[in-house]
Amino acid sequence: MLLDIESPDGLSLNTGTPRPFPRINGYVLIPSDEGYLVAQIEWITIERSQYPKRKGMQDFGLVDLPYPLRKVSLNPLGVLAYEGKDENSENVYRFRRGVESYPTVGDAVLLPTQNQLRAIVESGDNRRVLIGSSPLAANAKVMVDPDRLFGRHLAVLGNTGSGKSCSVAGLIRWSMDEARKARAGNDPNARFIVLDPNGEYAKTFRDMSNVRVYAVEPSKDVNQLQVPLWFWNSVEWSAFTQASAKAQRPALVQALRSVRDGLFTATVTPSHEMRRYLRTLVSAIKVEKNSGSPWKSAGQAKGFRDRLNKWKEGLTDDAAFAQAESSALNDLNTEATHLTNAHQGDWPAIFTRGEVCALLVKMSETHSAFGGSDTDILPIDADVPRPFTGDQLLRSIEATAELLGMSEYVETMQMRIRTVLSDTRMKVVSGAAKELTLDDWLINHIGDDQASNGSVTIIDLSLVPAEVLHIITAVIARMTLEALQRYRRQHKEGKTLPTVLVMEEAHSFIKRYNDDFENHNSAAICCQVFEKIAREGRKFGLGLVLSSQRPSELSPTVLSQCNSYLLHRISNDRDQELVHKLVPDNLRALLRDLPSLPSRHAILLGWASELPVLVQMNLLPEHHRPKSDDPDFWAVWSGQDNTGKTVERKVDWKSIADDWQQVNKANSKSNP
Ligand SMILES: Nc1ncnc2c1ncn2[C@@H]1O[C@H](COP(=O)(O)OP(=O)(O)O)[C@@H](O)[C@H]1O
Ligand SMILES: [Mg+2]
Repeated sequence: MLLDIESPDGLSLNTGTPRPFPRINGYVLIPSDEGYLVAQIEWITIERSQYPKRKGMQDFGLVDLPYPLRKVSLNPLGVLAYEGKDENSENVYRFRRGVESYPTVGDAVLLPTQNQLRAIVESGDNRRVLIGSSPLAANAKVMVDPDRLFGRHLAVLGNTGSGKSCSVAGLIRWSMDEARKARAGNDPNARFIVLDPNGEYAKTFRDMSNVRVYAVEPSKDVNQLQVPLWFWNSVEWSAFTQASAKAQRPALVQALRSVRDGLFTATVTPSHEMRRYLRTLVSAIKVEKNSGSPWKSAGQAKGFRDRLNKWKEGLTDDAAFAQAESSALNDLNTEATHLTNAHQGDWPAIFTRGEVCALLVKMSETHSAFGGSDTDILPIDADVPRPFTGDQLLRSIEATAELLGMSEYVETMQMRIRTVLSDTRMKVVSGAAKELTLDDWLINHIGDDQASNGSVTIIDLSLVPAEVLHIITAVIARMTLEALQRYRRQHKEGKTLPTVLVMEEAHSFIKRYNDDFENHNSAAICCQVFEKIAREGRKFGLGLVLSSQRPSELSPTVLSQCNSYLLHRISNDRDQELVHKLVPDNLRALLRDLPSLPSRHAILLGWASELPVLVQMNLLPEHHRPKSDDPDFWAVWSGQDNTGKTVERKVDWKSIADDWQQVNKANSKSNP
């Protein structure tokens, strides 16, 4: 659009009241059939005109100077319709997105009044939560619908220090304040789980009733973080133990199944014990059979006879067995002996499929004779979160590996588990800290009935040992998703329990990974959980809020599943480029502001906002802000902070060294 040469520059005075001439991202109106077409200024430029400045048939001036031509590019957004006057005889307008008829050459372009600007920005339904104001639109109130903001995932992106954490804390706080008002002052039935890798949020919501804070090191207001190892599913265990796909993983999965089935917990009668042994044998042979062993190839057949002999050793008769039990056991022994003898000479012994099936049938019969039923043979899900200890798992792995004849393959894996369990920093996972039940954990982390124990959970991950950080995060996220899936399954008509999961520093937990590589490392597992939440969470009422300063490192799947974006200052090229790809073509120009946004300012776009708007977020008072851990060099150097308070920073390396070398512990054991 070419501006008329007489059009105003900075401020327009010919409009009744002065109206500022809009800048980039500001709005203008073009009269149309339905009211006004609303357009946003994409860019403004000045070009040198080839023609002298004159109008009509005037006399030529003495000198004809070229003059600048001003051009503006507009991006049509929607239509503003006039709706009459309100009780104060102010004009009322209503904004609607989408444009049916476009302007033509020569149409007048108007500057919107304050009233009209507000109508544009303050459009949309369910504007329930005030999050800030729009400096480009007469400080119109920017309000959001929480269903839209949290229901379909929100990405908060921007450089360090651009205000992401404050925005996240603000969105939670302002939403809760509004919900409390709607409940006449009572606590809302809300659920926010903040995964906080920097430990910034511990004090942020203190003034709100009942905030649950979990950390590795508990203190007065902080509970012990616990994500016991029996929560972990087989995929997480495999990633953590770096189990090899071929030999170790099947043994690990089988071992998890047994230990979760209570096979390695209580002490029992000999008959009971035999029942368990038979149950394990049945599962072990089923695993063999399903993998095509031992009849498929010589390689697979090779160890089968040895394994069979080993299994037979376990089938010893005990005086305490009942008559029927003993005779069934004898039958099975006979069958097994018959089988080994039949292949005495051949090497490798090629057993037929029929033989293995017959053995399996005999074994199941014996299992029934000992009181076992088919249902307990159905291998229980290796992922059911039933309690077990690290020692029980180790024993289970040992026993399973022996049954499967792969003891030598699992040693490295066992070593790794042992190392971790013996590490004192691992109280988070070892479950040694405190007895914990699954329902307790769910009540504490996702929130009790009616959120009676508070609506915000802060999980401070800052001291979680690096080896388990990704796994722990993955487990918490997955348990939350699965809990909500189960909630919906129990409630007919697809009712869900609305919950928001916040992931700070998302680039290190939802990091893009290489697809063509066999991806079973902890970071990939963690990312995959969030990808699942991004894809399916909405169905179960689980909304994701992620915050990151490195959007280009985030999983593209997760980012593209986010329907709303709150974009703070982004100055890095690669990150800007990525953000550009996320928004539709016609909105890209909006993002030119990104590298220069002041802190507290952000562009809100997507599902949560009728229109993309520049927002100045509400001011959070100091004690409601997350504590970013910016180093305070100057305060420490100079001995005082900005307010003149003395700053001391003492250090005692001896105590650090002792702690590091675990000297005190050793000492206190040897000479108490
Ligand atoms: N809504 C806000 N209210 C008050 N101060 C803010 C707000 N947003 C940002 N700030 C200021 O900006 C600083 C950096 O914000 P922060 O949220 O820690 O950035 P980020 O998480 O992006 O690194 C804060 O310490 C605070 O001083
Ligand atoms: Mg931050």
